[in-house]
Amino acid sequence: MSDIKKVNDQISIESVGDVALVCINFPPVNAAGIGVREGLSKAIETLNAEGRVKAIAIYAAGRTFVAGADITEFDKPLMQPSLPETLNTIEASRIPVICVLHGTALGGGLELALAAHGRIALEGTRIGLPEVFLGLLPGAGGTQRLPRLTGMAFALDVALSGRQVYAKEALDQGAIDRIASGDPRDVALSAAQEVVAGTLATRRTCDLDSELDQAAIDGTRAMLKKKQAHLVSPHLIVDAVEQSAGDFDAGLKFESDSFMACLDTPQRAGLIHAFFGERAVSNIAEAKGAPRDIAKIGVIGGGTMGSGIATSCLIAGYTVRLIEVAQEGLDRGMATITKNLEGAVRRSKMSAEARDAALGRLHPALGLDALADVDLVIEAVFEQMEVKKDIFGKLDTICKKGAILASNTSYLDINEIADCTARPGDVIGLHFFSPAHVMRLLEIVQGAKTDADVLATGFALAKKLKKVGVLAQVCDGFIGNRILAHYSKMASYLVLDGASPQEVDTALEEFGFAMGPHKVGDLAGLDIGWMTRKRKAGTRDPRERYAGDLADRICEQGWFGRKTGKGYYLYDDGAAVPPVPNEAVAGFIDAIRAEKGITPKTFSNQEIVDRYMTAMIVEATRVVADGTAKRPVDIDMVFLFGYGFPRFRGGPLHYADTIGAAELVSRIETYAKDDEDYWQVPDLLRKMAADGTSFADLNKEG
Ligand code: 3HC
Repeated sequence: MSDIKKVNDQISIESVGDVALVCINFPPVNAAGIGVREGLSKAIETLNAEGRVKAIAIYAAGRTFVAGADITEFDKPLMQPSLPETLNTIEASRIPVICVLHGTALGGGLELALAAHGRIALEGTRIGLPEVFLGLLPGAGGTQRLPRLTGMAFALDVALSGRQVYAKEALDQGAIDRIASGDPRDVALSAAQEVVAGTLATRRTCDLDSELDQAAIDGTRAMLKKKQAHLVSPHLIVDAVEQSAGDFDAGLKFESDSFMACLDTPQRAGLIHAFFGERAVSNIAEAKGAPRDIAKIGVIGGGTMGSGIATSCLIAGYTVRLIEVAQEGLDRGMATITKNLEGAVRRSKMSAEARDAALGRLHPALGLDALADVDLVIEAVFEQMEVKKDIFGKLDTICKKGAILASNTSYLDINEIADCTARPGDVIGLHFFSPAHVMRLLEIVQGAKTDADVLATGFALAKKLKKVGVLAQVCDGFIGNRILAHYSKMASYLVLDGASPQEVDTALEEFGFAMGPHKVGDLAGLDIGWMTRKRKAGTRDPRERYAGDLADRICEQGWFGRKTGKGYYLYDDGAAVPPVPNEAVAGFIDAIRAEKGITPKTFSNQEIVDRYMTAMIVEATRVVADGTAKRPVDIDMVFLFGYGFPRFRGGPLHYADTIGAAELVSRIETYAKDDEDYWQVPDLLRKMAADGTSFADLNKEG
C-alpha cells in the first residue's frame, strides 16, 4: 500500500511500508528553486520527526534529475532555506537518504546527491558541476563533498571543465555508488528497501577525509595562471577544493563566501546573460511554427565553406549531395569533408562507425540536376550576385516543389536572389561561419517574401546542427559582418593614429578576445578584405576616412597572413606561436603617416579598448534600431558564437550596459571632435541616455 502526500507544489512524499519516496516535480528541469528547497527541507524534517520510516529515497519526475540551483533566482534577494541549508538538513538526517539520478544531475543537483547518504544513477545519466560556465563555483558543498568521494584531481577536473560525466566514469571515480536500470520511482523504491534490508550501504560524505593532492592543486594553478588568468571563479574553485583537506564546516564556509563573491562579479552577470541569451534567440514566434521535413540536403560548392556545411549536416545525420562544376573541385570537397570527419573522430566528437555511416550518406555529383529530390539546398559558391542568380534560376526549375532554396551569402541581397525564382517564399539566407562544422553561429536571414514555415525550418535545422540560430533581416553584411565592417575600421585608425598592430592586439586580448584583430586578419587571409575593398572602391563615401591603406600595402607585397608566412606578423612554417611582429609593417606605417601628415599619438590599452568597443556598440545600436536584429540579445549571441567575443563579457550590448548609454554618448561626442564623419551618436543611444534606459530594457520589451 502506498500513500502520497504533497509537501508543496513541487515536492511530494510517497510512503510505502517502512520507506518513503520523496519526489521532486518542478518542470522543465527540476531546478532547485525556493519551492524545491523548502519542500525538501520540510519533507526530511517531517519524516525524521515522525520516525515512521527506516529509509528515504529522493528522485525526480520528468526528463531529468535536478539541473542545478534555479539560475533565475541569482539576481534576486536570497530566499531561505538556501540550497546549502537544505543539503545540510539532508546530510544530517538520522534516517538514511539515497538519491536516484536520471538525465542530468548538474551543479546544485549533483550537490544534492553528494549530500545524500548514497547515490544510484540510472544508465545514461550524466553528472557535472557546470557552475564555472556561469562565472560561479559550486556553492552547495560540491567543492567539499566531491573530493571526499573521488579525490581532488577528479573533483578539480569536473568543476573546472564543467564537463558532463557519464554514469560509468562517475561510478569508477567513486562519485556514485551504483548504476541501475528502470524507472526512477521504481529504482528509488527498491533502493530504499535495500537500505532497510542492509544490502545497500550508506554513509555521510562529510564524515570522509579529503586527502590533499598537492600535485593536482599546483598543476591546476599553473595551468589557470597561463590560460584563464582573467577569470575569477576557476581560481576560487582550486582554493576551495584545496580547503576540503581541512575541517568540513570551515571548507563549506570558505566555499559559501567565495560563491557570494562570485555572484557579485560582472563576469557572473555576463555568463548568465550568455546562458539565457543562447536560449532566447530561438524563443521567438518566427522559430516556433511547424517546420518542413528535411532529410536530404544539397550543398553547392566544395570549397572550405561548402565542405564545412556538408560536414555539419552529415554529423547531424542528414543525407548530403555535394555539387561541384568540375571533377577536380568535387574531389577536393570530398577530401576536405573526409578530413573534417576524421578530425571529429580524433576529438571524440563522433565514433569511427558514425564517421563511416556519415561518409555513406555523402553523395558527390557534377551539376545541379542531381538536386531534383533534395528537401533543402544550401548554395555556398563565391560571392557574386550574377553567379548566384544564375544558380537560383536553375534550381527553381530543377528542385521539387516545397524544397527550400538557401544561400550562404555573407552580405548579398537575399531578396534579389529570391526574385529570380518563381518561388521567393522558399528562399532564405543561411549564413554559416567558417569553419562551418565547428562554429556554432547560424544567421537565419529572412527575405521580404520568405514563408513562415521556411523560417521555422531554418531554426529547426540550427537546432539539429547544434548551432545557435539568430534571425537577421536583409542588409549588407546582415548582423555580424555589418557591425564588423564598421568597428574593424577602428582597429586600422588606431594604428594609423599612433598604436602599433601589436598594441591593439594585446589590449584586446587582455580585454578577453582570444586573438586581436590583426592576428585574426592574418589567420583569415588579408586578401579577403583586400578584394572587398577593391570591389567597394567605387561606392565608398568620399567623406569617410579610408581605413585600408596599411592592409593594402601589406597585400601589395603578396603577404596575405599565415598562409603566405607574412602579414602583420611573421609565421614560421605558417603558424609560429607566438607570432613575431613583421618589422616591415612598422616601416609602412611610418610612410603612410608621413604621406597623410599624421602626428602619432599614444594610446593606453584602455583607450584602445574604449574606442574599439564603442565603435562596435555604435553600429550594433543601429542594427537594433533599424530592425536588422530583433533585440540586443540577438546581437550579443551573434558575437559570442560567431566572432570570438569574450563570453564572460556577455556580448557587445550587454557590455554596453555596464558602461551606460549616457557615458557612451559622451565618449562618442569626444571622439567626434577628431572625426565627425565616423563618430556619430545613434538616435537610439541618445534616447536611451535621455530616458535612463538600457539594452536589457529593450530585451525585455522583446
Ligand atoms: N535554472 C533555471 N532554469 C533553467 C536551469 C536552471 N538551472 N537549467 C535550465 N533551465 C531552463 C532553461 O533556461 C530553459 O528555459 P526556456 O525553456 O524558458 O528557454 C529550460 O530550463 C530548458 O532548458 P534547456 O533548453 O537548456 O533544455 P535542455 O534539455 O537542452 O538541457 C540541461 C537541459 C542540460 C539541464 C541544461 O538546461 C543546462 O545545462 N542547464 C544548466 C545547468 C547548470 O548550469 N546548473 C548549475 C546551476 S548553478 C548552481 O547549481 C549553483 C549551485 O552550485 C549552488
